[in-house]
Amino acid sequence: MGHSLTKPVVAGNWKLNHGPAEARSFMESFSPAKGEGTLVLFPPYLSVAAVLEARGGRPVLVGVQDIYWEASGAFTGEISAELANQAGAEVALVGHSERRHIFGETDEETARKVTASLGAGLIAMLCVGEKIDEREAGQAKAVVQRQLDAVLGHLGTEHLDRFAVAYEPVWAIGTGKTATAADASEMHVHIRSILLQRLGDGAASVPILYGGSVKPANAAELMGAKEVDGVLVGGASLDPRSFSAIWDARG
Ligand code: PGA
Repeated sequence: MGHSLTKPVVAGNWKLNHGPAEARSFMESFSPAKGEGTLVLFPPYLSVAAVLEARGGRPVLVGVQDIYWEASGAFTGEISAELANQAGAEVALVGHSERRHIFGETDEETARKVTASLGAGLIAMLCVGEKIDEREAGQAKAVVQRQLDAVLGHLGTEHLDRFAVAYEPVWAIGTGKTATAADASEMHVHIRSILLQRLGDGAASVPILYGGSVKPANAAELMGAKEVDGVLVGGASLDPRSFSAIWDARG
């Protein structure tokens, strides 16, 4: 409890990479400069303890890549927000496009997961983003609005300091195709207006991160764009040097 995300936020999603030994060696070579903003790492569940042990005094929050909304019970293979909290995790990533599109997670399920994460004292980082066919059909903003609406209807203003949104256009994830800073910014402005409309003025401080093929070479331009409060990084977060370079690019 008590953690919050100061902008800019630079988050690394390791996906299904880096077991405990690799996580420890990542942390040995990772020495981010102190300064404004928040660093977050999302290791696989089984490497969370290794990252927590290895982080020492480094200013890094540690999160899980998914949670289940029930607290406990006969749900083989799942972990709850309570359990993640007990294990020392501070953040939960919810609704990542791989959860939505490989594992069939619905908008309603992401809403339950955000509610459960906040209820257990975690910071919830909700991922939204359109697929390429949706963008080409001119539906990108409507899709993101639908994904947000499903969650915001259940979100009270009391948890705003523990809520973040990551806009990740599905066509830009792991493809090397980054949205232009202008495209990202246009969607971020749209997301900010939905947040303000639904949650009131307090939503001005909710970080909105961009994700999708972020690397050291494009991070500064993206983070400099209007309403882009940070980045969620997949591939380029696996190497401590490139992840540090992205952190240094936040300006
Ligand atoms: P990528 O992944 O940086 O490898 O495109 C981003 C993400 O899925 O969070």
